[in-house]
This record gives sequence, C-alpha cells and structure tokens, in this order.
Amino acid sequence: MTIQTSFQTGPVAHEGPEVRASAAGDIRRMQELIRGMAVTQMIAAACEVGLPDAVDDDGTSLTSLSGRLKVHAGVLTRLARALSSFGIFDVDADGGIRHNEASRLLRTTTAGPSLHWAARFWGMPGIWRSWGALSHCAGTGEEAFSHVNGQDFFSYMNGSPEEEALYQRYMASGYPGRYAAIADVLTVAPGERVIDVGGGTGSLARTILERNPDAHAVVYDQASVISALTGAPGDDRLSTRAGSFFDAVPTGGDIYILSWILHDWPDEKAESILRNCRKAMGAGARIVVVDRVLQESPKDCDPLDLVLDLQMLVLHGGRERTLDDFTRLLNAAGFSAPRILSARPEFSVIQARAV
Ligand SMILES: C[S@@+](CC[C@H](N)C(=O)[O-])C[C@H]1O[C@@H](n2cnc3c(N)ncnc32)[C@H](O)[C@@H]1O
Repeated sequence: MTIQTSFQTGPVAHEGPEVRASAAGDIRRMQELIRGMAVTQMIAAACEVGLPDAVDDDGTSLTSLSGRLKVHAGVLTRLARALSSFGIFDVDADGGIRHNEASRLLRTTTAGPSLHWAARFWGMPGIWRSWGALSHCAGTGEEAFSHVNGQDFFSYMNGSPEEEALYQRYMASGYPGRYAAIADVLTVAPGERVIDVGGGTGSLARTILERNPDAHAVVYDQASVISALTGAPGDDRLSTRAGSFFDAVPTGGDIYILSWILHDWPDEKAESILRNCRKAMGAGARIVVVDRVLQESPKDCDPLDLVLDLQMLVLHGGRERTLDDFTRLLNAAGFSAPRILSARPEFSVIQARAV
C-alpha cells in the first residue's frame, strides 16, 4: 500500500500491508510537524516583504503585487500558494489573492489583533539560529542564544535597534488584550505609584493609568529601551527610569510589576531581580508577577506554554514555572506566598506582599 500525502515524493520506509490507516494519519501529522520550520519562515517572509498589508480586501493579482512590493513574481506566487494550503490567504488558480480570517491577523494596520510582529520575531535571524541549536541546550543545560550569536539576547538586541524595535512591538502586540486583562485585575488605590519593572514600551503602564485616573506609574527598563520611548509618555503621571534590575529598582512604589520578566531568567537571576524589588519596597507593598503558570502535569498544560518554556531556555536560559516554583522564589526573596489574581493559559497574574 502506498501512503498518499501531499508532501510525499517517493515510497515511504514502512510501505506495506501492515501500515494501517491510523498509521498513515500519524505519519502525515509527523510530516507536518517536522516541516513546521518551513511554515514559520513562510509566514515570516510574507510579513517581511509586506504581503499582508498589500493585499486589498477585494482581492488583488499576485503579479501586480510583486511589482508594488518589488519581489520576484514567481516566488511570491509560490509562497502565497503554499501559505493558502495552510489556510493563510485564499489564492486562486489565476493568481488572485484575497484575505481570509487567518491572513488578516498578519496585517500591521488593523483595528483588531495583529500577529504580524510575532510572526517576524519568531522568524528573525537571531531567534532562528538559536532554535537551530536546541541540541546544544540539551547537551549543556545552557541557553543557545549566546552560543550561536556570540552574546546574550538582551546585549544583542541593544546592539541591533531594528531587531530590538521588532521585539518590543512583538511584546506589545503578540498577545492581544493582555495589558487590558492585567490592568482589569489590579486594584490600584488613588495616589498609588506603580513601578513597571522591565516595562518595555510602557503600554501596560499606560493601560493601568487609563483605568486609574489618580495613580502614577514609572516605566523602568534598560537605557536603550527607555531612550526609544523619549517623548512618548504624553501623560504627566507617567515617568521613565533607565537602569538594570540586576543593580537596583526604583524606590517609592506601592505596586511593583514584573510582566514577562522572571521567565526570561534562570532561578538564581530571577531571585536576584526579586530581591532588588524587595530592597526598593516598603513592608506591605505589593509585587505583581505576570507569567505563564504551568500545571504540574504536562497533560494539563497548553502546548504553546510548553513551547514558550523551551523558547525561554533557548533564548535566555530561562523557564516557565509552576505556582510552587513561584512561591519558592518569592518566599526566598522576602515575599508572602502569592495569590492568583487571574489564571489563563498564556499569562496568569499573581500577587504577593513584601514581608
Ligand atoms: C519579555 S520583555 C517584557 C516587556 C513588558 N514587561 C511586557 O510585559 O510586555 C522583557 C523586558 O525586560 C527588559 N530587560 C531585560 N534586561 C533588563 C535589565 N537588566 N534591566 C531592566 N530591564 C531589562 C527588556 O528590555 C524588556 O523590555
């Protein structure tokens, strides 16, 4: 029996009557998973050349698009055709291309959620090379990023403004509604000061201020990130501070937020960030950690959370953590056991008090 799959170019190794229909399904599934790297690059390349923004809602011819985008017409057609076979864009035999619900998510100019920056981040060279060295992590227990890129992730980003900007846009857009969902579960009393430690673009701080008109916020991040925000705050309740959370954290806050910070780091570094927050805080001040909270059993975990766990390993030597892991880290740094304010697959919000 020959197993037919759209990828197959010759007889499969297990060809024979013993191959059951269910095995054919498994083979097909494995083939698709193994080729996942190609799909990542197909999506990233389409975004990089500007295809999603260029396609009109009424449909466009790929030949005319290739002229507008200044790309090879034949390759653009093949790329679009391959993407459409995975349900991204509708492409017809005459070379016409239209958006569908999936491809619309890849536009930069959209009133709704955009995964454009996420697609480009996952496909960009430094990230791509790092995943290619996952077996280095397995062999050493260390991150792959420095091994293949010659410097750690954040130093590399500091020296590469375009990739840094792309990374920050991914952080701010990759999980639509994240900042609003965090701000919704935070209780901020009038006059309280929120310090967003590693606050990136300041989007979370702004969202918190929108919901709490009498609050103040400070975005604290590396100098290269803060200098890119110069002139951006536009609200006298919002200020910025540059520095490293491994050296110190601004004092005087009532609420310290670590949103997608701790998962970037292995335990000893995560604890050092928490200790620096604790030093800056008065007793009773709150720390709010936003990160994925893994379930103990992999069967109960969202697969994307476990991929992100490996992404943290590959890029930073970091990890996603269970609630027990967070409790241990927080206790060691001088905080109470955390309370869960909100639990979701991509990010949970947990809060503890300085003791
Ligand atoms: C994963 S991003 C999270 C950004 C933001 N908090 C959010 O939730 O979207 C990690 C942030 O940590 C910042 N960061 C990395 N190393 C830092 C350091 N040593 N001191 C301060 N910020 C740092 C990065 O610049 C980046 O903005």
